[in-house]
Amino acid sequence: MIKLSGISKLYGSVKAVDNLDLTIKKGELFGFIGPNGAGKTTTIKILTGLIKPTSGIASIGDFDLDKDPLNAKAITGYIPDRPTIYEKLTGWEYLIFISDLYGLERQKAELKAQEFLSFFNLDESSNKLIESFSHGMKQKLVISSALIHEPQALIVDEPLVGLDPKGARQVKSLFIDLCKHGTTIFMSTHSLGIAEAMCDRIAVINKGRLIALGGVNDLGLQAGKSRADLEEIFLELTETKNDPQTP
Ligand SMILES: Nc1ncnc2c1ncn2[C@@H]1O[C@H](COP(=O)(O)OP(=O)(O)OP(=O)(O)O)[C@@H](O)[C@H]1O
Ligand SMILES: [Mg+2]
Repeated sequence: MIKLSGISKLYGSVKAVDNLDLTIKKGELFGFIGPNGAGKTTTIKILTGLIKPTSGIASIGDFDLDKDPLNAKAITGYIPDRPTIYEKLTGWEYLIFISDLYGLERQKAELKAQEFLSFFNLDESSNKLIESFSHGMKQKLVISSALIHEPQALIVDEPLVGLDPKGARQVKSLFIDLCKHGTTIFMSTHSLGIAEAMCDRIAVINKGRLIALGGVNDLGLQAGKSRADLEEIFLELTETKNDPQTP
């Protein structure tokens, strides 16, 4: 459903992504982890068509992002790490506006918007300007807008940052439920607990390169650990334990 073949991205002499190959199956909840600067956001921007790779092919469903970007984007939902949102619209207006961009019928759009606003307990705020929303409320609105057209693939960069425990739990169960119904989710996260608890498979990326791939137990084996603790595996694989001591 989501495929990266030989993807590289150069920024000057910096190899942000280095020859990355990944294939994610339909219905899979796929975790993407790695240290700061590893290349996660760059990969996600390539997968959503926001930037072009220096080389390689990225596709969503049957659509090559370079040759057929509109069809690829039509079946994709994207939740960025730093969402930009039209603050002078109300929550309701924003959801209907995004539905219009995706060409949803108005009746269906209103139904879906209502569904999400109720799910996230935003009913009462939905007629207020977004500029009056808290960070977490905006995040919930962005998640709703990314899902309103029922995308086949959801690409998410750090989805739970800024959400309260209830909101985080709602999003986690929403994602798991979506995957059960066939949506494919590609999610970067710094929360190893979330990756461990939610993801079918996890890719570890470091300095632009894929260094491990599989379920938590597979990753443990790849890191030479008999007991699978994702934090230990992560530190082992990315060698952060050799970094300088705190001053
Ligand atoms: N627009 C850009 N111009 C130049 N270099 C960039 C640009 N975007 C990213 N980079 C570089 O590419 C590398 C990967 O960055 P990226 O944002 O993909 O990392 P990340 O894994 O998302 O990190 P984080 O966990 O901090 O979000 C870094 O070395 C970064 O400095
Ligand atoms: Mg990032």
